[in-house]
Amino acid sequence: MRTATIDPVFWRGKKVLITGHTGFKGSWLSLWLQSLGAEVHGLALAPPTRPSLFEEARAGLGMSGTTGDIRDFETVRACMAAFGPQIVIHMAAQALVRPSYSDPVATYATNVMGTVHVLEAARLCGGVRAIVNVTTDKCYENREWAWGYREDEAMGGHDPYSSSKGCAELVTSAYRRSFFAPGGPALASARAGNVIGGGDWAADRLVPDILRALERQDAAVIRNPHATRPWQHVLEPLSGYLVLAQKLFEDGQGHAEAWNFGPRDEDAQPVRQIVERMVAAWGDGARWQLDGGQHPHEAQGLKLDISKARARMGWRPSWPLAHALGRIITWHQAWLAREDVRQLCLKQIHEYELAMTVN
Ligand SMILES: NC(=O)c1ccc[n+]([C@@H]2O[C@H](COP(=O)([O-])OP(=O)(O)OC[C@H]3O[C@@H](n4cnc5c(N)ncnc54)[C@H](O)[C@@H]3O)[C@@H](O)[C@H]2O)c1
Repeated sequence: MRTATIDPVFWRGKKVLITGHTGFKGSWLSLWLQSLGAEVHGLALAPPTRPSLFEEARAGLGMSGTTGDIRDFETVRACMAAFGPQIVIHMAAQALVRPSYSDPVATYATNVMGTVHVLEAARLCGGVRAIVNVTTDKCYENREWAWGYREDEAMGGHDPYSSSKGCAELVTSAYRRSFFAPGGPALASARAGNVIGGGDWAADRLVPDILRALERQDAAVIRNPHATRPWQHVLEPLSGYLVLAQKLFEDGQGHAEAWNFGPRDEDAQPVRQIVERMVAAWGDGARWQLDGGQHPHEAQGLKLDISKARARMGWRPSWPLAHALGRIITWHQAWLAREDVRQLCLKQIHEYELAMTVN
């Protein structure tokens, strides 16, 4: 299988709707699609953090957008009908585990019914040929085993966030079987690992928490140093979504199923490794310490098996973990120095595209 690449000829002029474009992943994806010459429209609430990548990188410059709530079906329907996308990448979500404990109703409303609204609007709209629904590695019933989860394993989730994404997977499967095949839009779901990259300011996420502490010259406080996660630079899963969307568009139902986009096996590392590497790369007396307090349940181990994406799409990770962490420190220090982070994002995207081709 030839290595998958992102085809600029394919993307030029394509009408792409991104939900969640004001978020961390959505901003990177918006910039990437703009650089490929796509006609991009976003649907999301206001950026979820301050500062936000969306504002700092002026991600809204080369695209149009609707500020709206996907819990409201009419908002989604009207946005979809007005823009008339050919490709939909659905990423809007309540994307964090901890807030899902404090507000499970809003989490399920956004992640489950929001997904229903996006799929239903796409069904009614006509003209949509490919849909990628972004869920997560946490959609699997976590058995705390050493192997990576494969796409045909059971959905589950201990906490409301993980379970809401398992539910969104079930919705996706039902829509595909009930409404979309054959002849309708080709609908796939994409399950990625723990995404890291410059421009993430979310609360209660490891890398942003570490960077905030290092900036203040405080010790980074770590609550679960032995938990292992499939860490990957944000451009890794985004490249998977783009490759998958190309395949869905060109090949119809042949790729309309679930896909894992995780890191290389050796990059599923314990939290301790991440913090130690970041502290070393930051320099300047940076340090970390253990948080001994009580915290809600968190899974200890989680890995994704990416054999299917490798074998059937030629997709594989292009930036090893050490490389990704280096890019993040570079990005964050450039931001602190008030450099143009829009240009820096576009440069890192270009470097990533080159890495894909020599992979
Ligand atoms: N960041 C990760 O590590 C990670 C890992 C796996 C999967 N994911 C998934 O990727 C997607 C994007 O994650 P992110 O890290 O960029 O999240 P984020 O919190 O940075 O962004 C979420 C986006 O969704 C929008 N949104 C939230 N609620 C909404 C609503 N009710 N109506 C309309 N828009 C709403 C926000 O405005 C924002 O644009 C999510 O579906 C998330 O579950 C993220």
